[in-house]
Amino acid sequence: MKHPIGVFDSGVGGLSILRALHAELPCEDFVYVADSAHAPYGERDPDFVVERSRHIARLLVEDQPLPVKALVVACNTATAAAIHLLRSDYPGLPIIGVEPALKPALALSQTRRIGVMATRATLNSPKFLALQRSLSDRAIFVCQPCDGLADAIERHDTAKIVALCADYTGAMGVFGQQAHEIDTLVLGCTHYPFAVDHLTRLLGPAVQLVSNGTPVARQTRRVLPHLAAPCLEGTVTLQSTGDHLSLVQAAKRWL
Ligand code: DGL
Repeated sequence: MKHPIGVFDSGVGGLSILRALHAELPCEDFVYVADSAHAPYGERDPDFVVERSRHIARLLVEDQPLPVKALVVACNTATAAAIHLLRSDYPGLPIIGVEPALKPALALSQTRRIGVMATRATLNSPKFLALQRSLSDRAIFVCQPCDGLADAIERHDTAKIVALCADYTGAMGVFGQQAHEIDTLVLGCTHYPFAVDHLTRLLGPAVQLVSNGTPVARQTRRVLPHLAAPCLEGTVTLQSTGDHLSLVQAAKRWL
């Protein structure tokens, strides 16, 4: 038995991070918790997100047969609200978070006009505002709160996903490669990579969509206290505070 890596999100979105983690660290065991009974987090107030994040972290750190050796907060909203508190709750544990990939987007954008889709709670958080401020002389960030989109992805409601993606990208302005057009779009919620096909159809293949599964997976490898010995493939254990079957179906679809 090896100590697993704990991963959590409000729901199925963190599977986009788990997919990258599993590719980067194929011999590791993972326990993934979806807090689906309380999703979405993104339109709740920060106290609620803090309380849920602490609860799920406790489940992963204290209530598994073997305690986790690292914790990945695979949720931008929970990272923004709670990662500093989780780090003080578990000072010896490596804790890795996700934040909207503004810096990687800067490296890609030619027009210096970058769209950011994220939850309302992420965009309003002091952590995100500080990140945006620190880069504000290098590009214009057009930030769009996407109420309802994570929930539609959670429910696998394709018609609603397509309609919301069209509304929100439409509200952000013109996408393209000309000056003053948005040429790069940050997917600042871990649910949104599961809408990439719809977004690409809407915006065209030239608009670059940026998410951060791979950098988070690399960072996790860097901070792990020890790697699992090379072996047969590691295991993935799925747990949900809501409907377990929906999580299993989402994992089959996306992992
Ligand atoms: N997947 C999450 C994020 O990255 C949260 C979405 C939600 O629960 O609203 O922010």
